[in-house]
Amino acid sequence: MAGRGLSRCSSQYSQLLKYSGTNAAPKASLMRAFSVTASEGYHGLNSENAKSHAEWTGTKEELDDERLDIDGHPVMQRWETPYMASLAKIATAEGGRVLEIGFGMGISAGAIQKHDIAEHVILEANADVFKRLQEFSKTSPHKVTPIGPGLWQDTIKEVEDGSISGILYDTYPLVKEEQHTHQFDFIGQAFEKLRPGGVLTYCNLTSLGVLRGEFNSWKELFAETQLPHLLACGFREEDIRFEVAPAAPTADCEYYQHDTALVPICYRPVADPMFTGLGQKE
Ligand SMILES: C[S@@+](CC[C@H](N)C(=O)[O-])C[C@H]1O[C@@H](n2cnc3c(N)ncnc32)[C@H](O)[C@@H]1O
Repeated sequence: MAGRGLSRCSSQYSQLLKYSGTNAAPKASLMRAFSVTASEGYHGLNSENAKSHAEWTGTKEELDDERLDIDGHPVMQRWETPYMASLAKIATAEGGRVLEIGFGMGISAGAIQKHDIAEHVILEANADVFKRLQEFSKTSPHKVTPIGPGLWQDTIKEVEDGSISGILYDTYPLVKEEQHTHQFDFIGQAFEKLRPGGVLTYCNLTSLGVLRGEFNSWKELFAETQLPHLLACGFREEDIRFEVAPAAPTADCEYYQHDTALVPICYRPVADPMFTGLGQKE
């Protein structure tokens, strides 16, 4: 992806994609049928059989009180509620205008709304999910601005650079090769959306579910698989840390099996020499 954030990143970015196998741009398309296991991640998710963007946004959701599935894929489950609250706490820590990517079951959105914020901008791809987001926006205590239905790759340009105080990213990959790194494609662009002193957190449970089994600790995992990408996206090491939140996946969860989950915390420096004001241009 030739995003502004990534163009700011050094050329080492491509060499850091140890767990992705590719640094190709996300495609505005999705596989029709794929599955997921907690030990290996996604199966059959690749660019062959790819759906068109219109097909993806139009795919019907299957929703009940416990889970959301789209295209046969487990997208979100109720047991993540406490984890979402932890992410929401970080994303709202600086108040102001909060950007969320992926409405899903609206669990993290509800948690964000419990905090003192000025505005809650939410980007959502799926048309069914987007309809629920629009309903959510009518009754939320704080102003909600829904943007979509459309992939963030297409709609992020509608968010003004330097205008966001906190970001919560929680989507999933478009192709299998990006299952461990799709968040960094977003973060590379999201860095510029943050105001100086703004904070970003993100979630990629399907990836972490696999990677956690390959490392002795969250510290090792973070240092090896997350930190290099975050640095390449523009964050400084002293502004990056993480917390660990409890997790209790239910027996039917196909994508996660650990009793803790990672809460990354990345701040844009307060005094960022690259920042030239709202709507900044390179
Ligand atoms: C894991 S769910 C989000 C769950 C949400 N945090 C919650 O608490 O319910 C992922 C959401 O991201 C949306 N999504 C997936 N890819 C996207 C993309 N490229 N751009 C925008 N939204 C996307 C899906 O339609 C889905 O609603």
